[in-house]
Amino acid sequence: MKILIINGPNLNLLGKREPEVYGSETLNEIMEWLKTAPEAQEHELEHFQSNHEGAIIDQIHNAMGQSDGIIINPGAYSHTSYAIRDAITSVGIPTMEVHLSDIHNREEFRRVSVISPVCVGQVSGLGKMSYLEGLRKLVQERPV
Ligand code: DQA
Repeated sequence: MKILIINGPNLNLLGKREPEVYGSETLNEIMEWLKTAPEAQEHELEHFQSNHEGAIIDQIHNAMGQSDGIIINPGAYSHTSYAIRDAITSVGIPTMEVHLSDIHNREEFRRVSVISPVCVGQVSGLGKMSYLEGLRKLVQERPV
């Protein structure tokens, strides 16, 4: 499978940003680790990060006809962005939502993801393992 991994706002600061919540590894370290995981070997992983909603939407659009699946950590846009949600619906690419922290056990505003109803699943609270678990689940969703 060709899988596009999208990381949203502030995730470029991983390693420096609230390490007690998000861990001490950088985004690059996590993405490199994911690419070397045994589960990733038979797939082609491409990574994109942006702090901008429109750039994330453009990337989702560009995935049409290019990617078989998307793994997205939309950051705080998870809780607000109907535009990203619409983009996911528009392209019809199976999309897995992932979060490093457990969004269901933090502040009230994080408990609702407006993205999750249009995703094939959500993995939250496993740290970097959320990406790997998201990959596993996404691959299982692949039509036979
Ligand atoms: C996050 C959780 C979001 O609530 C937050 O805004 C983030 C990171 C996570 O990976 O745990 O930026 O998506």
